[in-house]
Order: sequence, then structure tokens, then C-alpha cells
Amino acid sequence: MSPFKGPSYAEALATLHQLCFSGAWSVDTFQKILALPTTFAFGDEKGFVLCSDLGDDLEILTLAVHPKCRRQGVAFSLLRTLQDFAVQHNKKKIFLEVNETNNPAITLYLKADFIQTGRRQNYYHEGQKVFDALCFCWEKKTSD
Ligand SMILES: CC(C)(COP(=O)(O)OP(=O)(O)OC[C@H]1O[C@@H](n2cnc3c(N)ncnc32)[C@H](O)[C@@H]1OP(=O)(O)O)[C@@H](O)C(=O)NCCC(=O)NCCS
Repeated sequence: MSPFKGPSYAEALATLHQLCFSGAWSVDTFQKILALPTTFAFGDEKGFVLCSDLGDDLEILTLAVHPKCRRQGVAFSLLRTLQDFAVQHNKKKIFLEVNETNNPAITLYLKADFIQTGRRQNYYHEGQKVFDALCFCWEKKTSD
């Protein structure tokens, strides 16, 4: 699977994001993020992972799988694709943040060999509710 990039994908990604998050990002937001030279994504109409190239490392900005396509290994496969990409491009780590209440995503990241490295207090605001973010990291094994 090859990565894709550029603002022309904004509408498709925003449509999928809308189906997956209560505070979904707008087309305009995706256009701005995708216009950055450091941003790229893997995926298709079933789901996508949007990433930022930090130089030595990568950061997952968001990950979304269409509700009709869940529990079929789509997200796990996207993470493995990204990890392979990281190894091929000599990126040492992949970082991400996840809402402390998002058990499906937390379970997914643990299964994909990410480890929790920290916690950001009161990071997500959803209406009157506030949640911490858990910081996760995947590190390339020295044998890779
Ligand atoms: C989290 C999300 C990306 C998972 O996508 P998915 O394609 O369904 O995940 P996969 O099928 O690849 O699941 C891989 C593993 O993750 C875990 N997992 C995934 N969904 C789960 C759920 N609802 N409950 C518990 N564990 C879950 C399981 O360990 C699963 O392996 P298994 O099916 O063999 O048990 C998807 O539910 C989603 O888009 N959620 C809304 C957006 C979101 O929360 N994104 C992440 C933000 S950080």
C-alpha cells in the first residue's frame, strides 16, 4: 500500500471522519492539514490513518474505520502498514494520543505493540465533559 497526500483527499477523509467522531474535523481542517508537506495518509474507503512526519519519528494525527467495516482487521492492518513504512524510512518511533475512555482504540494500539508512555490531563473537551489523553508510542525494534 502506498501513502497518499494532498488536499484533494480532504472531502473523502472528512466524510469518513464524520462517521467516526463526535467532534469530527471539517473539510477545511483536512484541507489545511493535508496541504502540509509533512502530512500523509494510508487507507481507502474502509478506513484511513493520517500521519505527520516529524523527521526522526512519525505521529498519528487520526485513525478512523467506517462503522460498517469494523472488527475486520482494517485498523490493525493500517497500523502494520505504517510500522513497515516507519522501518523502511528509518523512522524510530510512532507517537499518538488517545482519549482515556476509548477502549476499542486503546486495545487496538496495545495489540499493535504500542506502549503507554504518559498521560495528558484534561486534554479532550466534549461539551461539559473533560477527559485525559493517554500517550502511546511504538518503537522500532533494534533487530528490524
Ligand atoms: C478504533 C477503531 C479505529 C478500530 O478499528 P477496527 O478496524 O475495527 O479495528 P480492528 O478490526 O483492526 O481491531 C484490531 C484489534 O483492536 C481491538 N479492538 C478493535 N475494536 C474493538 C472494540 N470495539 N472493542 C474491543 N477491542 C477492540 C481488538 O483487540 C481487535 O482485535 P480482535 O478483533 O482480533 O479482537 C474503530 O473502532 C474506529 O474507527 N473508532 C472510531 C474512531 C477512533 O476511535 N479512532 C481512534 C482514535 S485514537
